[in-house]
Amino acid sequence: MDKQITILGFAGSLRKGSYNKALLRAALELSPEEAKLEIFDLEGIPPYNMDLEDRMPERVKEFKEKIRISDAILMASPEHNYSIPGVLKNAIDWASRPPGDNSFQGKSIAIMSASTGMLGGARVQYHLRQMFVFLNMYPVNKPEIFVTFAADKIDDKGRVRDEKTREKIKELLESLIAWTRKLKGG
Ligand SMILES: Cc1cc2nc3c(=O)[nH]c(=O)nc-3n(C[C@H](O)[C@H](O)[C@H](O)COP(=O)(O)O)c2cc1C
Repeated sequence: MDKQITILGFAGSLRKGSYNKALLRAALELSPEEAKLEIFDLEGIPPYNMDLEDRMPERVKEFKEKIRISDAILMASPEHNYSIPGVLKNAIDWASRPPGDNSFQGKSIAIMSASTGMLGGARVQYHLRQMFVFLNMYPVNKPEIFVTFAADKIDDKGRVRDEKTREKIKELLESLIAWTRKLKGG
């Protein structure tokens, strides 16, 4: 088997019953053997403050290190007010700093979103893709996973029940792995 691809997953929601965290748990279950997915909780990352950049908070150091040692990133995020939830934007801002130490530099990334609404977070995904330009990340284009009416597809134990959604998550992981290998030149 080729070297395992290491993937760091995180969700743009802190809540325990988060549908987006549920997508990441499903990804854990569906992850092929050629990848190792680890999930990081953004809980504990303080609001960004440039004054602290020369003495980064411990939780931020931990987050940056986990990103640094991963080959690829998997984000699952809700849409807040048609855009990126503050919790996620804040964590990305920290990890992109200080200048010259953007942890995301050159990483491949796959995104998915779950929403209780009928668009499944389509708009947050395009705002994220815009940020990836400046972060110099390489997003997987297809499949696009917008989990609409999430409450109908994820049960009250936080398990993704919808078979189509599970298939798409598996497909997204496979695309991310293939894309990461391609970027690494092998
Ligand atoms: C502040 C706020 C703004 C929201 N804005 C949107 C929105 O613009 N589009 C949307 O589809 N859902 C929106 N929602 C609903 C979220 O999609 C829903 O709460 C979702 O379950 C949150 O994700 P989570 O389950 O991972 O916590 C919003 C929710 C909150 C709390």
